[in-house]
Amino acid sequence: MEQSLTLEMVRVTEAAAIASARYMGRGARDAADLAATEAMRRTMDEVDMHGTIVIGEGERDEAPMLYIGEQVGRAEGDGLPEIDIAVDPLEGTNLVALGQAGAITVLAASEKGGLVHAPDTYLEKLCVGPPAVGKVDITASPTENVNRIAEALGRKVGDITVVVLERPRHVDLIAELRSAGARIKLIGDGDLSAAISCAVQGTGVHAVMGIGGAPEGVITAAALRCLGGEIQARFRYRSPEERERGARMGHGDETRVYSTEDLASGENLVFAATGVTAGDLLQGVRFFGGGARTHSMVMAYRTKTVRFIDTVHMFERDTPPRVRL
Ligand code: FBP
Repeated sequence: MEQSLTLEMVRVTEAAAIASARYMGRGARDAADLAATEAMRRTMDEVDMHGTIVIGEGERDEAPMLYIGEQVGRAEGDGLPEIDIAVDPLEGTNLVALGQAGAITVLAASEKGGLVHAPDTYLEKLCVGPPAVGKVDITASPTENVNRIAEALGRKVGDITVVVLERPRHVDLIAELRSAGARIKLIGDGDLSAAISCAVQGTGVHAVMGIGGAPEGVITAAALRCLGGEIQARFRYRSPEERERGARMGHGDETRVYSTEDLASGENLVFAATGVTAGDLLQGVRFFGGGARTHSMVMAYRTKTVRFIDTVHMFERDTPPRVRL
């Protein structure tokens, strides 16, 4: 994928972050999500590409925009790249509604066929950073895995922090991690951004365990390929209908363990995320008179680059705000 396209992708997540950050703490999760989705959709159409949404807001009949199969991009002229795009316009809609930490706007892009088309269901996930790659096994117990992660990092289990979504379905997992002696960070939402954090040194997060959204799992895989981390995952269906739909899409075997490459196989993967509310990894959107400042991360697998981008957005050309360091 063209280098310039990589940077265009971060413009898309920045626009979505600024739009949804206006709703911070206003108790309006749907409005925040809609603002992010509209801004993402609008900005994508300014990018020179033939884009197809492969993971988005849902199927055509349930989502007015960024639905699966929707064409995006300014498809004018010949020779434009054909790109598959997975979006989560706002990961952490509740977090924004409540003014809590860790919401991001996020997308992953690839050459055609480079991202699994996952049904909107759940995945059981085990995510780790580079030191523990190849050392964990989702079919082993959480105790075993946390011990292996500790060994890979040269630490005691008590010095490992595992992020787990706070959900009733995780009661046993949490109890086991506690008895294994690991530290646990329970989060209300946002296992995608937690998974990226575990592959970035200095965030204080070493693993993500538990069941979360499947679309988020595919975007996580794209990010972890760029960062040299690992996700292992198994489909977890909530109903026979979901299982049937998953099976039709080729994911009927719930015992199959999907690797990072199974979920995001592209060689030209690009990942972009912008902070909406401040989190472990990214700062939130900060507004000031006449502008806003955003903090983003954009990564490209082929060029082996991870960029943290600090952007000042000036809303008025005539009376621009003074830029500060
Ligand atoms: P959205 O804010 O995009 O709706 O998702 C937040 C999230 O917490 C994800 O991070 C996670 O994978 C999923 O929801 C978990 O789903 P559920 O809330 O149904 O347990």
